[in-house]
Amino acid sequence: MTDLQPNTPCLTLKYQFGEPGSEVISVHVRRFFVPFDMPRTVKIAKSYDIEPGEGTTVFAEGQRIAVFNSGGEFHAISDTCVHAGASLGTGWLQDDYVACPLHGWRFNIKTGVSDIHKNICVDRFEVHQSGTDLFLSLDD
Ligand code: FES
Repeated sequence: MTDLQPNTPCLTLKYQFGEPGSEVISVHVRRFFVPFDMPRTVKIAKSYDIEPGEGTTVFAEGQRIAVFNSGGEFHAISDTCVHAGASLGTGWLQDDYVACPLHGWRFNIKTGVSDIHKNICVDRFEVHQSGTDLFLSLDD
């Protein structure tokens, strides 16, 4: 259970028991908030839409995300190459790396880190599979 802070906003609930016109009871309660750092889960694709060894680009809450099927395991990174903005979802997948279609920079699909330099990277995202549905975890 999340600890409520003293400044947590309150909410008044009104209940009426019995016939219309009977006494209304007001209950003053603290609102329950989901902590802001909890990731949101967004459905992004069907697993059968991405063939093994292939990638695609999906849109999740306004972001372009590149999703790859590496031997039945799904991985996601930002679709936008940090070099000049090409779509990594249309790149070539080889082992754990996708090569950008524009100039060939390579990014690890499990970490987002480029093999050019460890400080060159794109965001990576957790992918969860439930049946044939693929979900992405997005942080704020
Ligand atoms: S845009 Fe990706 S390597 Fe240049």
